[in-house]
Amino acid sequence: MIKALGLLGSARKGGNTELLLQSVSAGIKSQGVNVELIRLSELKIAPCRNCGGCDETGVCVQQDDMQQIFDKLLSYDIILLASPIYFMGVSAWTKALIDRCQALWIRKYRLNKLPDKARSERKGIFLSVSGMKKPTVFEGAKLTVKSFFATIHVTYLGNLLFPGIDEKGEIAKHPTALNYAQNIGEQLVREFKNPEFRISIEPSDMMVEHDRK
Ligand SMILES: Cc1cc2nc3c(=O)[nH]c(=O)nc-3n(C[C@H](O)[C@H](O)[C@H](O)COP(=O)(O)O)c2cc1C
Repeated sequence: MIKALGLLGSARKGGNTELLLQSVSAGIKSQGVNVELIRLSELKIAPCRNCGGCDETGVCVQQDDMQQIFDKLLSYDIILLASPIYFMGVSAWTKALIDRCQALWIRKYRLNKLPDKARSERKGIFLSVSGMKKPTVFEGAKLTVKSFFATIHVTYLGNLLFPGIDEKGEIAKHPTALNYAQNIGEQLVREFKNPEFRISIEPSDMMVEHDRK
């Protein structure tokens, strides 16, 4: 059974990141796969303190809601990481989750102790929106996401990035964004089910521009 996880790094209900994530999820669900949605802003996930508590074990010693997420990051087949751009990077909720993966970094790179399931073929996509249309607006976030997916041993398939989307829910007015996102969700599952099929998303990057503003 294919398992998909959607990590939502925006607190804005009905906001652009949520709509984008819901559309990819709808595409995944249309292929018979459930998507577990986690709203990071509703959880208590403290930042990493670099306390060294995970150095010998690869297990984080901070007892908060992140403890429910570690296993999912190492076992779900599809990981959708969705964050708006805040100050040229991912949102603080998203970054707190990523930084806490230092424990998994230790497990993978120092202890060589990732479970077999984590090492199986798993795939991730980054979804994001930004208010500005500056060409470099997603660059910082993409570097962070690359390092996150590498750490949890997930293949980073690409990005769905929509610049120039600022008002709450504005992405719904975009002529193609949400349909496109749904189609990507469908393709993701098809790629899992059919070894011949490859999702048509650039391996490292895909910028979907639009005409507004
Ligand atoms: C704290 C904060 C920081 C932001 N920083 C940036 C930024 O650096 N660059 C940018 O293009 N947009 C920035 N934005 C705009 C958001 O990316 C934009 O409004 C986006 O549509 C929000 O997505 P949401 O509806 O999912 O919350 C910022 C918004 C907030 C609230």
